[in-house]
Amino acid sequence: MSELRAIPRFGGPISNFRAMRRDPEALLLRPLLRAAPLVELPMLGARIFALNERALVEEVVVRQHASLEKDRYSHRLREFLGEGLLTSEGGLWRRQRRLIQPAFHRRRIAEYAAVMARLSAATFAGWGGATAEQTRDVHSEMSALTLRIAGETLFGADMGGATEAVGEAIALVMGRYAGEHFGGLLPLWAPTRHNRRIVRAIRRVDAALGALIAARRGARGQGADLLTMLLEAQDEDGSRMSDQQIRDECITLFLAGHETTALSTSYALYLLAQHPEAQARVQAAIDAALGGRPPTIEDLPRLSAVEEVLKEAMRLYPPAWSIGREALAPVRAGAVTLPRGAQLAIFPWLMHRDPRSFPDPERFAPERWQGGAERALPKLAYMPFGAGPRVCIGNAFAMVEGVVILCCLLQRFTVAPVDAAPLRLQFSITLRPIGGIRLRLRPRAGALA
Ligand code: HEM
Repeated sequence: MSELRAIPRFGGPISNFRAMRRDPEALLLRPLLRAAPLVELPMLGARIFALNERALVEEVVVRQHASLEKDRYSHRLREFLGEGLLTSEGGLWRRQRRLIQPAFHRRRIAEYAAVMARLSAATFAGWGGATAEQTRDVHSEMSALTLRIAGETLFGADMGGATEAVGEAIALVMGRYAGEHFGGLLPLWAPTRHNRRIVRAIRRVDAALGALIAARRGARGQGADLLTMLLEAQDEDGSRMSDQQIRDECITLFLAGHETTALSTSYALYLLAQHPEAQARVQAAIDAALGGRPPTIEDLPRLSAVEEVLKEAMRLYPPAWSIGREALAPVRAGAVTLPRGAQLAIFPWLMHRDPRSFPDPERFAPERWQGGAERALPKLAYMPFGAGPRVCIGNAFAMVEGVVILCCLLQRFTVAPVDAAPLRLQFSITLRPIGGIRLRLRPRAGALA
């Protein structure tokens, strides 16, 4: 225990709690970046240890993963997600990961790419086309589009009212965690107005998904989507998944599969609007690769310029800005042993700004990813999708989706800032733009085939 006293402490439980609510970036994350590789971050009611060095993250999160589970803040999502892939642990998590993995097979993603392109092109074509310059909140537009993409790719076209119900509930639940990342949250049964709205929204989700699951059970295995797969899956003893488990997996994949991709594409557009020369270069690359037609999976190798923008956007604004674990047993972290029950925090937001890995880290420079530069980076210097066995299952899905959406939009429009107002960030479960991201969209004459 005495070795724990040697770990530098950053702030106090109340000041850190306040910083988390008021301005986590300026008051907490930036100073933390310069503090030490391992820092204790006292927070009201918890001992949090921040692992600020990629070697420590590898040692703890990857090599000692068997001694960890998700932290108590991640587990709070169970009030909404139940025991889906994001929040379950142990044997249940292993079984479900094995069952769900085939839905993210390369061949499936190639099929999804066609749906992604069709839905994206239809959405942007509906924006008034060739003449109308317009201002839009691209974050809410991307949220609506990625929700439809998740619904149609993973669960088939006929979602009944489930997509809308899920979208509404996700927005409310995300609002619930704003400013509350490390605690201070009233339980959902506390009768506040916001809680009552959330509970009603979750009930609507349950009703819509319940109806969908019952209808699919009745249809007896017609269809090849993830929902059919979950319904058909059998354990060795022949038992099938309960409706509750299927509901939890559906809502989890909806949340995990749309919230983050809406953010990565929104931040990419925001950054391109700020950097017109970079945007012109990407548009020229898209035009050269596609000649005005929608992208397909085969085009992706020639669209590396778009992928580089997406990677750079996720470096500067990682949608999963913080990743948490709890030690189930003592874990070794460099020279010290962290006790059982310790809450561990890894901040991709912070690691992506380490100048040892990324020179001039605050600068938006998509070209730093050229020529497969990612492979030359030190391990875990860049980790928007996490690390270890709980790494994002939708990683490849998300990259393809991001590239397809950006291509379809940038073929039709050039984005520009509406004003000089700075981007304001909410460090919730995900990194969200406060008040959305309003951009001006100028139609590009004649860029489409
Ligand atoms: C830019 C987009 C995305 C980002 C930045 C992202 C990020 C992450 C991260 C960091 C984790 C690990 C969390 C942890 O270790 O605690 C994760 C897990 C997960 N992600 Fe993603 N994700 C993205 C897109 C997607 C998509 C498109 C899907 C599904 C369609 C998805 C489904 C999941 C699931 C189910 C998990 C839990 C995996 C497990 O624990 O086995 N994600 N994601």
